Amino acid sequence: MRKGVFIIGTDTGVGKTIIAGGLARLFHNMGINVGVMKPVETGGKYKKGKLVGKDTEYLIRMSKIQDTYSHINPYILQHPLAPYVAAKLEGKKIYKKKILTSFRNFTDKYDFLIVEGCGGFLVPITSNYMISDLAGDMKLPIIVVARAELGTINHTLLTLDHAQRSGLKVLGIIINKTSREIHMAEETNPQIIKTFGKVPILGVIPYIPGRKNMDYVVNKYVDIKKILYNNI
Ligand SMILES: Nc1ncnc2c1ncn2[C@@H]1O[C@H](COP(=O)(O)OP(=O)(O)O)[C@@H](O)[C@H]1O
Ligand SMILES: [Mg+2]
Repeated sequence: MRKGVFIIGTDTGVGKTIIAGGLARLFHNMGINVGVMKPVETGGKYKKGKLVGKDTEYLIRMSKIQDTYSHINPYILQHPLAPYVAAKLEGKKIYKKKILTSFRNFTDKYDFLIVEGCGGFLVPITSNYMISDLAGDMKLPIIVVARAELGTINHTLLTLDHAQRSGLKVLGIIINKTSREIHMAEETNPQIIKTFGKVPILGVIPYIPGRKNMDYVVNKYVDIKKILYNNI
């Protein structure tokens, strides 16, 4: 296994980006030569005549890396849809080879690489290549980011089940509270997910508005040592 992590969500909007960014800044501050990658991003916007994605920009800001944008984010699409769908609408074709070439350059260059996936495992990148296939090709240990609220048991266990069937190695789960509302399921979810999922819970992050000091947040609520040293 390579040094790094592939961050996948049970869904979109679960906190992959702020956690990936927080880890990147924390590792950077610890003096680790950390790189980031967002292989495919959708919902991009033009800035100064260049199409860019807000996840990629956040990851660049947090990690402070200075690589060419197209190596950090090989594919950026405008439609806020699954990559395959957006690419089709925009008359573009996604080649996994291009993503994996950038990835290999980064694994050579950086001591620890944080890759943010796009939605969940079964999001199509091309007609025959899903996010979970990309995770498999990258051979990085996987962190699953899951919501804290009601419904997360099913989403998380389905994700873990898919990982197991596909031979993907899951390092653990980070449970993240993305909404202000409190539900009684939040108290029992971590234990149930741990019991049925049979993978470690790496952390439970409370609702913290403003995405400020995410390095401090991940350091406080996540088992950083397991992520850094427990390569599986
Ligand atoms: N623990 C949290 N507390 C408050 N807001 C959060 C938390 N985690 C995520 N958010 C917010 O939820 C939204 C989705 O998070 P993001 O990291 O972009 O998710 P993803 O990358 O999985 O789509 C963002 O606006 C983010 O600031
Ligand atoms: Mg994101």
